[in-house]
Amino acid sequence: MNSDFDCTRVLEKALLETSATLDGFGDDFAPQIRTADEKFGDFQANGVLPHAKKHRGNPREMATQLVDALPSSQHWETSIAGPGFINFRLSSDYLLGWIAPFEDREKLARAVASENPFKAVLDYSSPNTAKQMHVGHIRSTIIGESLARLLAFCGHEVTRDNHLGDWGTQFGILLYAIKRQGSSLDDLGDDPVAELEDLYRKGNAWTKEDEGALAEARGELVGLQGGDPESMALWERIREISMESFQAIYDLLGVRFDHAHGESFYRDRVDQVYDSLLRHGICEENEGALVVFHPEHKRFAKQPFLVRKKDGASNYATTDLATLWFRSEEWAADQVVYVTDGRQRDHFEQLFLTAGKWFAAEDKTLPELSHVWFGTILGEDNKAIKTRDGQPVKLADLLAEAVRRALVMVEEKNPGLEPAEAQRRARIIGIGAVKYADLSQDRTLDYVFSWDKLLAMQGNTAPYLQYAVARISSIFRKLEGDPSSLMEQARPPETEHERSLARKLIFFPLAIEQTLRELKPHFLCTYLYELATGFSSFYNHDKVMVDDSREQGLRLMLCARTKLFLETGLEILGIETLEEM
Ligand code: ARG
Repeated sequence: MNSDFDCTRVLEKALLETSATLDGFGDDFAPQIRTADEKFGDFQANGVLPHAKKHRGNPREMATQLVDALPSSQHWETSIAGPGFINFRLSSDYLLGWIAPFEDREKLARAVASENPFKAVLDYSSPNTAKQMHVGHIRSTIIGESLARLLAFCGHEVTRDNHLGDWGTQFGILLYAIKRQGSSLDDLGDDPVAELEDLYRKGNAWTKEDEGALAEARGELVGLQGGDPESMALWERIREISMESFQAIYDLLGVRFDHAHGESFYRDRVDQVYDSLLRHGICEENEGALVVFHPEHKRFAKQPFLVRKKDGASNYATTDLATLWFRSEEWAADQVVYVTDGRQRDHFEQLFLTAGKWFAAEDKTLPELSHVWFGTILGEDNKAIKTRDGQPVKLADLLAEAVRRALVMVEEKNPGLEPAEAQRRARIIGIGAVKYADLSQDRTLDYVFSWDKLLAMQGNTAPYLQYAVARISSIFRKLEGDPSSLMEQARPPETEHERSLARKLIFFPLAIEQTLRELKPHFLCTYLYELATGFSSFYNHDKVMVDDSREQGLRLMLCARTKLFLETGLEILGIETLEEM
């Protein structure tokens, strides 16, 4: 981040430089600057207290000494609170000087751009082929996409990889069922993936009932793994059919990937994994299987990480190890982010531990690994969301329903709107609402899916934020005169609401930084919501169309910056906005 725009760093630097000139302050003084409750100022420095304790000083006296020694600044006023907190209130000139340069998105991007850009690989969505995407996959897709956008916005080089589950024992059963039923894969009806699921279910039942069927299904799997041309062709076609159905959803969500290598891509790369793990003594044989134990870990000392099955087949773990190697070797990944359900936490913990030992043994730098996990989507009965007849909710149906409901809202508000435009707005509002409902919750919690809540025009929802943007657009549409020449004359913020909105704006880079640090989009959502409510109170109290051009200039600037920050933040979340709503 450009430190000129990071107020916490500006203040920290001032405190450190001053403390270095004072007796009584050690060079281990480490002030922490936090945003403060408005009544105390804008920022608060902690750190004097523990420092005083360590150096046997009086905290309040040390804080006073430090504040008195700070070079006088036109940028802020200071005060001391409690036993040694230092409060900063930014001056109106400083606030104006901070917000004025942000004329467009590029300037904002430059302000938050990382000083050490790295290569990040994002592994998200990753559904399994021959199965429909269900609501569980929506979270990975939406959260993963927003984190990819966030990293890219901060200047990192992002590779998006859809790690499809397209290789595994289930294909033996599926191929067997396709052949036994004599199905043609080019003629599976309107919902081919549903048909494939059905075939799998049948195959599964047959192999459970009858030993002969089981043996044949096993034979199919061996054939496929051995590269039998007929089986390979069928498998390939299954992958295509599945991808087409996933693509329809990705198009609707505005998600795109650079790669969809999937598990199958690594099928010839797993042998190297076994060899290397064995050579370095990282895995051991256990009744024919290969397993990894981690003696230093409480649970994984006993709970094995299975990297090769008894029958010699590779599994999810082996593929993930091979995949990580490939990403490091071929893509020079500095960071790999995996976005999955929280139920896979053990898998990733074991994967990361194993990879750490393996890479060290191979003298290779391990990329930074993050498992971004999430909770379950619940229905209004607080149980995992299901259709009325108890089936998992299909993602395609859920999204269609969102657009349908949003269309009702749009038509009610704007009767007579052209159908194509109404449809366009309904898509932006409906899809935006579903995404935002997911992103605005701490991802580690389960959340209750409620149509009324997520489409509400009031509260922490996408439609509320989109409406704030549309409202600001209408101010500029109605304006006579050139906004930029008015904004050039802007006076510093004075009224309570002007000030409060301006101070909200300067927190934007901090919200971005926190979201990136924790890989949790809800921090950005909360920030945008507070910005929108701040705008709303400003707009209700302070008229924008006033005679004084300096006053009007500032108020228009506050409107323009709020719009830019909201739009940019929503874009990072993958949510589109509207000029009119
Ligand atoms: N296909 C898996 C699933 O549907 C998710 C894969 C996640 N990525 C990974 N590298 N393991 O649960």
